[in-house]
Amino acid sequence: MMEKKKILLAVSGGIAAYKAAPVASKLYQSGYEVKVILTASAQKFITPLTFQTLTRQAVYTDTFEEKEPSVVSHIDIADWADLVLIAPATANVIGKLANGIADDMLSTTLLATKADVLIAPAMNVNMFNHPAVKKNMETLAAFGWRFIEPNEGLLACGWIGKGRLAEPEELINAVHMYFKEKKEHSLPLSGKKVMVTAGPTREELDPVRYFTNHSSGKMGYAIAFAAKKLGADVTLITGPTSLDIPSGVQVERVISAKEMFDKAISLYGEQDIVIKCAAVADYTPVTVHSNKFKKKNDTWTIELKKTDDILKVLGERKEHQILVGFAAETENLEDYAKDKLLRKNLDMVVGNDVSKEGSGFGSDTNEIIMIKKDGSIRPLPILTKEQAANEILEEVMEMMER
Ligand code: PMT
Repeated sequence: MMEKKKILLAVSGGIAAYKAAPVASKLYQSGYEVKVILTASAQKFITPLTFQTLTRQAVYTDTFEEKEPSVVSHIDIADWADLVLIAPATANVIGKLANGIADDMLSTTLLATKADVLIAPAMNVNMFNHPAVKKNMETLAAFGWRFIEPNEGLLACGWIGKGRLAEPEELINAVHMYFKEKKEHSLPLSGKKVMVTAGPTREELDPVRYFTNHSSGKMGYAIAFAAKKLGADVTLITGPTSLDIPSGVQVERVISAKEMFDKAISLYGEQDIVIKCAAVADYTPVTVHSNKFKKKNDTWTIELKKTDDILKVLGERKEHQILVGFAAETENLEDYAKDKLLRKNLDMVVGNDVSKEGSGFGSDTNEIIMIKKDGSIRPLPILTKEQAANEILEEVMEMMER
């Protein structure tokens, strides 16, 4: 069963408030979940009981009337709504919302919501054309709020002109259209948070020397780019590379394995998908010299200590996330990759034999094998890193659907 879309209908105090009742009723009958806020002025025209009966939901009228002790109502319904419809919107409410005034249930909720807003003004034609109201409407439009234009005709006040609230059918149609458009524009990873790590890490020995590896970042950047194109909200944690950050991707630059560990752990909780493609140093110098280490003896013995295995820790702390790791091997690819899958509690491991021509470090191509925790194994021929990235994300999306 499709989850019901949640509409918050906010009704302010004009004569057109009575038209909000058939809107609430039709939306409810069309399968939406509808909750209603009435301002104090709206209640002079129509009662909460009307909407409660039509929507089978309690109606909100007062910020301080906290019906449910476990939540703060105006924040709770602000977060609950998929879409807010303000109908009718009076000049007063438009002015308050444009200026961030929050002094009642409607205005505090609207200031707190992250949902999209449709706003249907209704007022006297001269009020509608007043520069102050026009300016406030422009401000709201700049917030991304969409207006449902009032109609022209005989107004309740006796004037003829633009200011009649759009008819209930028009308001309901605007809601249907909003969700239709949203569905058409939604991409497979819309609303999903994806964290990708890429590139090498650099482990300092002294101010002029460091240990690193051959990772160019190309594979990880290709994954970040592909996830962005699929609509995801992407964070790329990258070690030092010379690549451009894919457009629209949020970047976190790190140098060492320790910095990558700290950044990955701090962002982990909020992610839906994590793909750890970075070639993280397994060892780092025990001693980091503060001055350049001077040439003395014929040999120089450097003591190294293990770094924290980021992927292993993420596997141990896994909750809802889909966790994908890489395995860069030069022998026994399948066996070693399977071992990493189990030991690090991964959902999938992507193995690549980095000793093969056109595979692994630095190249524009890669030959990968994908092994999932359900035991399925999918070897792929040599592909561009962009193609390989898309194949990896296809498998991730398939796992998400289960
Ligand atoms: O950057 P490119 O030039 O495009 O090259 C791509 C690549 C070869 C770097 C990439 O395809 C790849 O294989 N990345 C993983 C490299 C690696 O470190 O593999 P590993 O088998 O040593 O580590 C296994 C997994 O544990 C990896 O997901 C790694 O990110 C992770 N790890 C390793 C050590 C550590 N301290 N923390 C980790 O999280």
